[in-house]
Amino acid sequence: MSEEMGIFETMYNCRAMRRLDKREVPQESLEKLIEAANQAPSGSNTQNARWIIVRDPTVKAELAELNRIGVENYLAPLIDNPGSLPHQPADKRKRMADAVVWQKEHMHEIPALIIACMQFPQSPTPAMIASGNGSIWPGIQNLLLAARALQLGAAPTTLALIDQQAVAKVLNLPETMATYCLIPVGYPLGNFGPVTRKPLSEIMRYDQWSD
Ligand SMILES: Cc1cc2nc3c(=O)[nH]c(=O)nc-3n(C[C@H](O)[C@H](O)[C@H](O)COP(=O)(O)O)c2cc1C
Repeated sequence: MSEEMGIFETMYNCRAMRRLDKREVPQESLEKLIEAANQAPSGSNTQNARWIIVRDPTVKAELAELNRIGVENYLAPLIDNPGSLPHQPADKRKRMADAVVWQKEHMHEIPALIIACMQFPQSPTPAMIASGNGSIWPGIQNLLLAARALQLGAAPTTLALIDQQAVAKVLNLPETMATYCLIPVGYPLGNFGPVTRKPLSEIMRYDQWSD
């Protein structure tokens, strides 16, 4: 693999990396990820994305506990249920579930948990929160690509953020802010590798849709 990854190589190899080492990530690298996220577009260039890098063990433990609740509620109906996630073969589903469980058990030890937030002019309504998605996810993807290019492991997660009030308390957020994604970042324990995605024949048409 080349020393500096090109944009396509980075995109094609940017798998969710959940198993991460405890080893600290330099602050400079973490800030480089936020700089990359901050280059993303937002609606009307409002630039209301805000980023919190959580390294404090107490705050990490509180987020890890919220994630544990979210993961356990998510996995309970999926375990031993072959009809769940039908787009995934059983072996892949099991590998992902195992990694999600590993992440659940180790989240408090991961060196940095980056929280993607939005700042609103007032306490946001559910519609405002929903419309914020379009302006936060480009930054999240930039951050994930930057992490991959720096050989850092990362994954987008949302299960810790289901109880927004609890998250707001943990992070000391004003009522004008909402959280969208928690990205654990660290050096990978597993191997990087290519993503597996559907072929163009399934997901693309010219001019008009046809089955
Ligand atoms: C909106 C969104 C929410 C996600 N939430 C979680 C999550 O809570 N926990 C988790 O481990 N992964 C989460 N993921 C990661 C996905 O499971 C992962 O991106 C997908 O399985 C593809 O994985 P791959 O890139 O390794 O192929 C989320 C991804 C997205 C885009």
